[in-house]
Amino acid sequence: MRIGVIGTGTIATAVVRGIAGDGHQITVSARSAANSRALAAEFENVCVAENQAVLDTCDVVLIGTTGAQADAALEPLSFRPDHIVVSLMGDLPLDHVARLVAPAENPVMLIPFPVIATGGSPVFSCPPSPTVQALVGARNLVIAFDDPAQMVPFMAAQATLSPALKLVATAGEWLAERTGDATRAEAFLTTLIANSMKAGSLADSLAALDTPGGYNQRLRDHMEPGYHLLRDGLDKLQG
Ligand SMILES: NC(=O)c1ccc[n+]([C@@H]2O[C@H](COP(=O)([O-])OP(=O)(O)OC[C@H]3O[C@@H](n4cnc5c(N)ncnc54)[C@H](OP(=O)(O)O)[C@@H]3O)[C@@H](O)[C@H]2O)c1
Repeated sequence: MRIGVIGTGTIATAVVRGIAGDGHQITVSARSAANSRALAAEFENVCVAENQAVLDTCDVVLIGTTGAQADAALEPLSFRPDHIVVSLMGDLPLDHVARLVAPAENPVMLIPFPVIATGGSPVFSCPPSPTVQALVGARNLVIAFDDPAQMVPFMAAQATLSPALKLVATAGEWLAERTGDATRAEAFLTTLIANSMKAGSLADSLAALDTPGGYNQRLRDHMEPGYHLLRDGLDKLQG
């Protein structure tokens, strides 16, 4: 595919890293110069151009500005009716994007997570899109929605990532204080936890860790108030 990127920020850069190995011709916008230059230096199929030149040399356009920047970035540009527009902007409704990219039609939303740079990211697609599937589906988990409202509880639930990482980081600090080796502590815990989460369903994995009176069961019971706190927090995020 001939892919253009308008707004080569944090998430667009991660997406480009994730798809650059798939043989596309990718043109990224010159602004956000540090990211654009780094991508062009890293991948021979990535080049840098001004915004309109990005559009003129691509068929699929990824929009990676923030929602607040989109009007100023996109209003001066001329889109073609045959452009396939993919918005990475989680903070701008699709009908607003549609107005900005006309005469291109039917933009889709693709919401990735930074781990998309190396693959294995969940990716929200709204609506379901063969372009999104073709771009990122081989190495990531595409979760498609017919209606943006269906994304709301997923957007809240994805925030579990931060407290989950903080939980592991806290255990890592605790272990490092007792062993004097922070690198080994983190490697131990991340290997244990990341791979155990891939081993089967969470319910089965939890059941397997249920030895009565064992370390796991005792710590899990001790943490019980925290799980209720998590549910309350998710309720608040969903609004
Ligand atoms: N970060 C995430 O993990 C994540 C995940 C999923 C979705 N999103 C969504 O992705 C969108 C972007 O987020 P982000 O974190 O990647 O933001 P970001 O790092 O601030 O990226 C926005 C980029 O747009 C560029 N830009 C601004 N005006 C421009 C213009 N006129 N022409 C070309 N480029 C322009 C900025 O360049 P300058 O730096 O030069 O100003 C910046 O590099 C947001 O809507 C966010 O909700 C983010």
